Amino acid sequence: MKASRLVAPLVLLVVAIYLVATAPEALAASSKTERSLTTRSLFMVLANENDIARSLYTEEIVGPGKKIGLAFSEDWADPAVLAGPLPAVFLRCCAEIISKKSSIKLRLASDYPIELRNQLVGTELKRFQEMKDRGVPVFYVNEDAKRQVAMFPDIAVSMACVACHNSHEHSAKSDWALNDVMGATTWSWPTERISHKEALKIVNDFRGAVRTVYSSFVDKIRGVKGMPGIGLGWPADCISLPDPDQFLAECVKRASGKTLNILMADESWK
Ligand code: HEC
Repeated sequence: MKASRLVAPLVLLVVAIYLVATAPEALAASSKTERSLTTRSLFMVLANENDIARSLYTEEIVGPGKKIGLAFSEDWADPAVLAGPLPAVFLRCCAEIISKKSSIKLRLASDYPIELRNQLVGTELKRFQEMKDRGVPVFYVNEDAKRQVAMFPDIAVSMACVACHNSHEHSAKSDWALNDVMGATTWSWPTERISHKEALKIVNDFRGAVRTVYSSFVDKIRGVKGMPGIGLGWPADCISLPDPDQFLAECVKRASGKTLNILMADESWK
């Protein structure tokens, strides 16, 4: 009886000593080998974040915005032009911002572009055909540039895409139809893996870029006579536009579920 009473505290003591002795070592080991993500997962997250921001902007700002008297133009950045960026230009502005913060690159291009600089050529064009034939994003390595690349289809999700491209004077094609693959968004990064910390920073940089570009648009019309108010609602609800925080919050709300699922499915956790 006496002996068994002694055994339990003794076992606890041994376990406690073992934990104290081994824990710092285990912690040190795990912090030395920082976890990394496959670059492919980062590309999938970014494609999701970009799809959400682009369709939110196209469908809930550009579409209804036009009905309440807003203009959207290629030369929106000109101080004399009272307009917002076109969806493709919105994306290009975001691409410029994030490329200054890390080595990530984003490009929107097509086999039949409006702008010549957006023309797909060479290997890019070959991969684009492959992506269209297989109906899935393609991932490859650009050996010359030594970069990992991911190409995602850019689809005519609304008649606004079709109508504007078909009627644009510089368009290389005038018979686009709904759901056509109008082009591709291409992401690239130098290495096959990326630390979790750096990957999350890039996602955060992209969200920040979306807020910055949207913010420069609303700053142009804030307080201008005859223009919608800012921060009172969405164009579809009333004569107003969401402010930059409301716009970004909606992007984050719509994108986060899928972003988290992609991150959790990454092989680095297995
Ligand atoms: C109001 C007109 C307009 C709308 C709406 C529009 N685009 Fe564009 N799009 C343009 C212009 C102009 C460019 C060229 C912009 C640039 O690169 O300076 C462009 C560029 C592009 C490009 C790059 C290749 C090219 O043509 O230069 C793709 C791909 C594209 N748009 C797809 C779409 C999709 C998909 C939608 C709908 C979600 C859409 N666009 C909505 C006018 C429009």
